[in-house]
Amino acid sequence: MSSELSHSPFQPPPPPLPMAKQPPTRPKTTSGDLLLFAGAALVTLLVVYSLWSFLAPNPSFSSPLTAEQSKKTKTECAAREEVNLRHDPPDPTFYDDPELTYSIEQPIRDWDGKRREWLKHHPSFNWGGERVLMVTGSQATPCKNPIGDHLLLRFFKNKVDYCRIHGYDVFYNNVLLHPKMHTYWAKIPAVRAAMVAHPEAEWIWWVDSDAAFTDMEFKLPLERYRNHNLVVHGWNNLIYEEKSWVAINAGVFLIRNCQWSLDFMEVWASMGPQTPNYKKWGQIQKSTLPDKFFPESDDQSGLVYLLLKEKEKWGDKIYVEGQYYFEGYWLEIVGTLDNITEKYVGIEKEVPKLRRRHAEKVSEAYAEKREPYLEEAGYGRWSWRRPFITHFTGCQPCSGKHNQMYSGESCWDGMQRALNFADNQVVIRDGNGAHCCH
Ligand SMILES: *[C@@H]1O[C@H](CO)[C@@H](O)[C@H](O)[C@H]1NC(C)=O
Repeated sequence: MSSELSHSPFQPPPPPLPMAKQPPTRPKTTSGDLLLFAGAALVTLLVVYSLWSFLAPNPSFSSPLTAEQSKKTKTECAAREEVNLRHDPPDPTFYDDPELTYSIEQPIRDWDGKRREWLKHHPSFNWGGERVLMVTGSQATPCKNPIGDHLLLRFFKNKVDYCRIHGYDVFYNNVLLHPKMHTYWAKIPAVRAAMVAHPEAEWIWWVDSDAAFTDMEFKLPLERYRNHNLVVHGWNNLIYEEKSWVAINAGVFLIRNCQWSLDFMEVWASMGPQTPNYKKWGQIQKSTLPDKFFPESDDQSGLVYLLLKEKEKWGDKIYVEGQYYFEGYWLEIVGTLDNITEKYVGIEKEVPKLRRRHAEKVSEAYAEKREPYLEEAGYGRWSWRRPFITHFTGCQPCSGKHNQMYSGESCWDGMQRALNFADNQVVIRDGNGAHCCH
């Protein structure tokens, strides 16, 4: 078994969507995309945005802010600027409980009350907003793939860019928090520890190391998830009708920092390799999910299993997001990036206000200005909107043990293309299209 933190190297592509045409086959292209824009003579500072955006519902989504929301957003932003990093009064909080551990093995009870109490003593964080902490990570040792560490660095830089632009915190974990919860199970203890260490965060956002943000402007539509505690990308019909283990993808998920989530992760983790029931769970998952072909219990199958078998208990708080690329399968995406670039360049040629140079901190304003021109783009598959997250499922950049159905070349080339596509939205270019920072 690979020691990669991301998902199983055996993971096949998701089954085609109902009614979907086969994706067009396309010639292989090379990875020189960083110079994609050279010669386009863009007088552009395609740098992306922050600040105002901290909480506002996604401008990419249709519903305009109500007056009340807009007022709320402004207040919250004001509060955010006044976050007090030096204020920690002596009043006891859950941190003073000697029994408290960050370990997944010891349950925490009344977390909502404890978190609320902490926030009461740290009022500068208590702005009723939706603070997001991104958690990602990779193994503790050097990659076996000779370019693995370089690729992981680029993937991490990509996440740092996205987080800086949107005012999110980011935590990179590279220790195995539970010695037996290796590979794709390792994220659960990391997310759990992040919740306890970050009571100020409303959401923890796990993003696999091999997933790249390919739309730096797109914001999570958090408003949409206000009644949910866990968001994963997937399709309900594939869960409930096909019972497919790839009906969802567990490599990117958003989980609310609350007791429900701790309880859920406890049940989810109980199928993991640290328990005496690991073998049994592998058999149960395999017999429940007809397309699961390997015997080990895995986190993704576990999640589908819980949706299927304990729907009443958990289902109403789990949002299965299929309306945009909350994460998307790279083979479906990479070949479309050139055409998407062309569309965006075409728009910018027509609309001078989108080409205006500006500071990165105010880029959200430019994202909003762009939105009207993207109305026809659509979302997800077959759309020409920049895909939000491109996930290199099955590629295993660090170990190099990619799924045999692709060549390593197609994986590494696809990654360079997606990461260059993202960098082109962030790097600073001068008027001749040269890169002043490279
Ligand atoms: C890109 O656009 C061209 C021209 O419109 C079209 O022929 C081609 O099929 C598109 N490629 C992809 C991968 O969508």
